[in-house]
Amino acid sequence: MAWSYSLKNLLTVFGVTILAVGSVECYQCTVQECQSTSCPGNTNVCTATNGCFNQIQKFDTPSLFTDHVFKQKGCTKESSSCSNHSFSATLGDQRRFTFENRCCKTDQCNKDDITSSPSSQANGVECPACYNEKSLSCSSVTTIKCTGKETKCIEFSGSTLAGLSSLLLYGKGCATENACNMQQNVLNGIQIKTSCTSPVSNNGNPTLKLMSSFPIVLLLLKVLL
Ligand SMILES: *[C@@H]1O[C@H](CO)[C@@H](O)[C@H](O)[C@H]1NC(C)=O
Repeated sequence: MAWSYSLKNLLTVFGVTILAVGSVECYQCTVQECQSTSCPGNTNVCTATNGCFNQIQKFDTPSLFTDHVFKQKGCTKESSSCSNHSFSATLGDQRRFTFENRCCKTDQCNKDDITSSPSSQANGVECPACYNEKSLSCSSVTTIKCTGKETKCIEFSGSTLAGLSSLLLYGKGCATENACNMQQNVLNGIQIKTSCTSPVSNNGNPTLKLMSSFPIVLLLLKVLL
C-alpha cells in the first residue's frame, strides 16, 4: 500500500516535471510602440513562449510631414498565432501603404526594425489610381503601372473610429493579392475596408506566359536534340 502510494507520487512528480520542461521554453522579446521613425532607444521586455512579434506600418507620401509610421513590438499572445504576414498598396497621388508583421522565437529576436525594399519592377498590370482625404469618392482618376507583387487593382475606404476629429479616406491603386477584401484597423485607429476591381490593362502575367511557352520550349529541345 505504502509502496504503491509513493510510486504513484513519484510518477506524478516525474510527469509534471517532464510536462513543465517539455512545454515551457521562455525567451524575452523587445516591447515597443511608437509613431515616428525615431523611436525611444530604451525599450522594455516581456517574457514569451509563443513568439515575439515585430510589426511596422508605413504610409508614405511625397512629404515627410504627411508620412506616418507605426511600430509595434512585443510578445505574441498565447491565443494568437505567431505568423509572418504582409501586404501593401500603392495609391494615387503618390501614397503608399505597407504593413509587415513578423514573428520569431528566440531571445530578443524582434529587437531590430524590419527593413524591406519592395521590387520596383513593373509587372504588366495597370490600375485606376486616386487618393482623397475628404470624402468617400475621387473626382479625378489616373492610371498607374503596378510593380512587384502588387498585381491586383484595389479600391479602399477608411474612417477613423468615432471621435471628434473624424477622417474620411478613399483611394484606388495597385495592391498585393492578400489585400483584397480586407477589413482591418491600421495606423493606430483607422478602420479600412478594401475590395479588388478590374485592371485597366493586364499585359500578360509573367508566370502564365512562361507556363504556356513551356511545352513549345520542350518541343524545340526535342527537335533540336
Ligand atoms: C518569419 O520570417 C523570418 C525571416 O524573414 C523567419 O526567420 C521566421 O522564422 C519566420 N517566422 C515564421 C513563424 O514563419
